[in-house]
Amino acid sequence: MPVSPGLLGYFTLFLLFWVVLFAVYKYFFVKNLSKKPNPVYKKIYKILRKIHPLFASASIILGSYHGYLMLGGFRFHTGSLIIISLIYMLLTFFAGKTKNLRTKWRSFHKAGGLVTVFAIFIHYFFPWII
Ligand code: HEM
Ligand code: HEM
Repeated sequence: MPVSPGLLGYFTLFLLFWVVLFAVYKYFFVKNLSKKPNPVYKKIYKILRKIHPLFASASIILGSYHGYLMLGGFRFHTGSLIIISLIYMLLTFFAGKTKNLRTKWRSFHKAGGLVTVFAIFIHYFFPWII
Protein backbone atom coordinates (compact mmCIF):
# COMPACT_ATOMS: atom_id res chain seq x y z
CA MET A 1 0.00 0.00 0.00
CA PRO A 2 1.55 3.35 -1.02
CA VAL A 3 0.24 5.24 2.01
CA SER A 4 -0.84 4.10 5.45
CA PRO A 5 -4.58 4.78 5.88
CA GLY A 6 -4.14 5.51 9.60
CA LEU A 7 -1.37 8.00 8.97
CA LEU A 8 -3.47 9.66 6.28
CA GLY A 9 -6.26 10.00 8.84
CA TYR A 10 -3.89 11.70 11.26
CA PHE A 11 -2.55 13.97 8.54
CA THR A 12 -6.11 15.04 7.65
CA LEU A 13 -6.75 15.66 11.34
CA PHE A 14 -3.60 17.82 11.40
CA LEU A 15 -4.97 19.93 8.53
CA LEU A 16 -8.33 20.30 10.29
CA PHE A 17 -6.51 21.46 13.42
CA TRP A 18 -5.35 24.58 11.52
CA VAL A 19 -8.80 25.05 10.02
CA VAL A 20 -10.40 25.11 13.47
CA LEU A 21 -7.55 27.18 14.89
CA PHE A 22 -8.40 30.00 12.45
CA ALA A 23 -12.01 29.98 13.70
CA VAL A 24 -10.86 30.26 17.32
CA TYR A 25 -8.11 32.77 16.54
CA LYS A 26 -10.45 35.00 14.57
CA TYR A 27 -12.67 35.34 17.62
CA PHE A 28 -9.79 36.60 19.80
CA PHE A 29 -8.30 38.63 16.98
CA VAL A 30 -11.47 40.63 16.29
CA LYS A 31 -12.25 41.07 19.98
CA ASN A 32 -8.84 41.90 21.32
CA LEU A 33 -5.63 41.23 19.36
CA SER A 34 -6.41 43.51 16.40
CA LYS A 35 -6.39 46.51 18.78
CA LYS A 36 -2.89 45.77 20.02
CA PRO A 37 0.05 47.47 18.28
CA ASN A 38 1.99 44.23 17.74
CA PRO A 39 1.97 43.51 13.95
CA VAL A 40 2.67 39.80 14.52
CA TYR A 41 -0.95 39.20 15.54
CA LYS A 42 -2.17 40.51 12.20
CA LYS A 43 0.42 38.48 10.33
CA ILE A 44 -0.71 35.27 12.08
CA TYR A 45 -4.33 36.16 11.31
CA LYS A 46 -3.57 36.65 7.62
CA ILE A 47 -1.72 33.34 7.33
CA LEU A 48 -4.42 31.37 9.15
CA ARG A 49 -7.15 33.00 7.05
CA LYS A 50 -5.32 32.11 3.86
CA ILE A 51 -4.79 28.43 4.70
CA HIS A 52 -8.30 28.00 6.20
CA PRO A 53 -10.25 27.29 2.98
CA LEU A 54 -7.30 25.48 1.37
CA PHE A 55 -6.72 23.03 4.22
CA ALA A 56 -10.48 22.51 4.68
CA SER A 57 -10.95 21.66 0.98
CA ALA A 58 -7.90 19.38 0.99
CA SER A 59 -9.40 17.54 3.99
CA ILE A 60 -12.46 16.60 1.93
CA ILE A 61 -10.28 14.81 -0.61
CA LEU A 62 -7.70 13.32 1.78
CA GLY A 63 -10.34 12.31 4.35
CA SER A 64 -12.35 10.52 1.67
CA TYR A 65 -9.24 8.71 0.41
CA HIS A 66 -8.32 7.73 3.98
CA GLY A 67 -11.83 6.31 4.51
CA TYR A 68 -11.71 4.50 1.15
CA LEU A 69 -8.42 2.81 2.12
CA MET A 70 -9.58 2.03 5.67
CA LEU A 71 -12.77 0.30 4.57
CA GLY A 72 -11.67 -0.95 1.15
CA GLY A 73 -14.40 1.00 -0.62
CA PHE A 74 -16.93 3.75 -0.20
CA ARG A 75 -19.17 2.94 2.75
CA PHE A 76 -21.06 4.96 5.29
CA HIS A 77 -19.15 5.47 8.55
CA THR A 78 -18.74 8.02 11.35
CA GLY A 79 -15.96 9.47 9.13
CA SER A 80 -18.59 10.17 6.48
CA LEU A 81 -20.21 12.59 8.92
CA ILE A 82 -17.05 14.74 8.79
CA ILE A 83 -17.02 14.67 4.99
CA ILE A 84 -20.73 15.61 4.80
CA SER A 85 -20.26 18.55 7.16
CA LEU A 86 -17.12 19.71 5.32
CA ILE A 87 -19.06 19.67 2.03
CA TYR A 88 -21.78 21.69 3.75
CA MET A 89 -19.10 24.20 4.85
CA LEU A 90 -17.87 24.44 1.27
CA LEU A 91 -21.44 25.02 0.05
CA THR A 92 -22.06 27.80 2.59
CA PHE A 93 -18.85 29.43 1.37
CA PHE A 94 -20.13 29.37 -2.21
CA ALA A 95 -23.54 30.56 -1.02
CA GLY A 96 -21.71 33.65 0.23
CA LYS A 97 -20.92 34.47 -3.40
CA THR A 98 -24.61 34.82 -4.25
CA LYS A 99 -26.47 38.09 -3.92
CA ASN A 100 -29.06 36.87 -1.40
CA LEU A 101 -26.70 35.21 1.06
CA ARG A 102 -23.77 37.60 0.75
CA THR A 103 -24.09 38.68 4.37
CA LYS A 104 -25.98 35.71 5.84
CA TRP A 105 -23.62 32.88 4.86
CA ARG A 106 -21.43 33.44 7.93
CA SER A 107 -24.13 32.34 10.38
CA PHE A 108 -24.68 29.12 8.42
CA HIS A 109 -20.92 28.62 8.23
CA LYS A 110 -20.46 29.16 11.97
CA ALA A 111 -23.25 26.75 12.92
CA GLY A 112 -21.80 24.17 10.53
CA GLY A 113 -18.38 24.67 12.16
CA LEU A 114 -19.75 23.42 15.48
CA VAL A 115 -21.29 20.39 13.77
CA THR A 116 -17.98 19.67 12.02
CA VAL A 117 -16.02 19.77 15.28
CA PHE A 118 -18.63 17.48 16.85
CA ALA A 119 -18.34 15.05 13.90
CA ILE A 120 -14.53 14.96 14.26
CA PHE A 121 -14.95 14.20 17.96
CA ILE A 122 -17.41 11.33 17.27
CA HIS A 123 -15.22 9.83 14.55
CA TYR A 124 -12.08 9.96 16.67
CA PHE A 125 -13.44 8.76 20.01
CA PHE A 126 -16.36 6.55 18.91
CA PRO A 127 -15.49 5.51 15.34
CA TRP A 128 -17.86 2.51 15.27
CA ILE A 129 -20.87 4.13 16.94
CA ILE A 130 -22.93 3.81 13.70
C1 HEM B 1 -11.79 14.54 7.20
C2 HEM B 1 -12.17 13.36 7.51
C3 HEM B 1 -11.48 12.34 8.39
C4 HEM B 1 -10.53 12.46 9.37
C5 HEM B 1 -9.85 13.73 9.88
C6 HEM B 1 -10.27 11.13 9.88
C7 HEM B 1 -9.36 10.81 10.87
C8 HEM B 1 -9.13 9.56 11.39
C9 HEM B 1 -8.14 9.22 12.37
C10 HEM B 1 -7.17 10.22 12.99
C11 HEM B 1 -8.25 7.91 12.62
C12 HEM B 1 -7.40 7.09 13.57
C13 HEM B 1 -6.35 6.36 12.75
C14 HEM B 1 -5.63 5.28 13.51
O1 HEM B 1 -6.01 4.96 14.64
O2 HEM B 1 -4.65 4.73 12.95
C15 HEM B 1 -9.30 7.37 11.80
C16 HEM B 1 -9.71 6.06 11.76
C17 HEM B 1 -10.65 5.56 10.92
N1 HEM B 1 -11.34 6.25 9.94
FE1 HEM B 1 -11.21 8.22 9.59
N2 HEM B 1 -11.07 10.22 9.21
C18 HEM B 1 -11.82 10.94 8.29
C19 HEM B 1 -12.72 10.42 7.39
C20 HEM B 1 -13.07 9.09 7.31
C21 HEM B 1 -14.04 8.54 6.37
C22 HEM B 1 -14.78 9.35 5.30
C23 HEM B 1 -14.15 7.21 6.63
C24 HEM B 1 -15.00 6.16 5.96
C25 HEM B 1 -16.09 6.35 5.31
C26 HEM B 1 -13.23 6.91 7.72
C27 HEM B 1 -13.02 5.66 8.26
C28 HEM B 1 -12.18 5.37 9.29
C29 HEM B 1 -12.03 4.04 9.88
C30 HEM B 1 -12.78 2.77 9.44
C31 HEM B 1 -11.07 4.16 10.89
C32 HEM B 1 -10.57 3.07 11.82
C33 HEM B 1 -11.35 3.14 13.11
C34 HEM B 1 -10.85 2.14 14.15
O3 HEM B 1 -11.11 0.97 13.99
O4 HEM B 1 -10.21 2.59 15.09
N3 HEM B 1 -12.59 8.07 8.10
N4 HEM B 1 -9.83 8.42 11.04
C1 HEM C 1 -14.19 23.64 2.59
C2 HEM C 1 -14.55 24.16 3.71
C3 HEM C 1 -14.40 25.60 4.12
C4 HEM C 1 -14.24 26.74 3.37
C5 HEM C 1 -14.16 26.88 1.86
C6 HEM C 1 -14.18 27.86 4.30
C7 HEM C 1 -14.01 29.18 3.94
C8 HEM C 1 -14.06 30.24 4.81
C9 HEM C 1 -13.88 31.62 4.44
C10 HEM C 1 -13.53 32.12 3.04
C11 HEM C 1 -14.04 32.37 5.56
C12 HEM C 1 -13.97 33.90 5.65
C13 HEM C 1 -12.64 34.31 6.20
C14 HEM C 1 -12.75 35.66 6.88
O1 HEM C 1 -13.42 35.73 7.90
O2 HEM C 1 -12.16 36.59 6.37
C15 HEM C 1 -14.34 31.48 6.64
C16 HEM C 1 -14.59 31.87 7.93
C17 HEM C 1 -14.85 31.00 8.97
N1 HEM C 1 -14.79 29.62 8.92
FE1 HEM C 1 -14.56 28.51 7.26
N2 HEM C 1 -14.30 27.39 5.58
C18 HEM C 1 -14.43 26.01 5.51
C19 HEM C 1 -14.53 25.15 6.58
C20 HEM C 1 -14.63 25.52 7.90
C21 HEM C 1 -14.65 24.60 9.01
C22 HEM C 1 -14.47 23.09 8.92
C23 HEM C 1 -14.83 25.34 10.13
C24 HEM C 1 -14.93 24.73 11.50
C25 HEM C 1 -14.47 25.20 12.57
C26 HEM C 1 -14.93 26.74 9.73
C27 HEM C 1 -15.15 27.82 10.57
C28 HEM C 1 -15.12 29.14 10.18
C29 HEM C 1 -15.40 30.26 11.06
C30 HEM C 1 -15.84 30.20 12.53
C31 HEM C 1 -15.24 31.43 10.30
C32 HEM C 1 -15.43 32.88 10.76
C33 HEM C 1 -16.84 33.29 10.42
C34 HEM C 1 -17.10 34.74 10.77
O3 HEM C 1 -16.35 35.61 10.38
O4 HEM C 1 -18.10 35.01 11.42
N3 HEM C 1 -14.79 26.82 8.36
N4 HEM C 1 -14.33 30.18 6.16
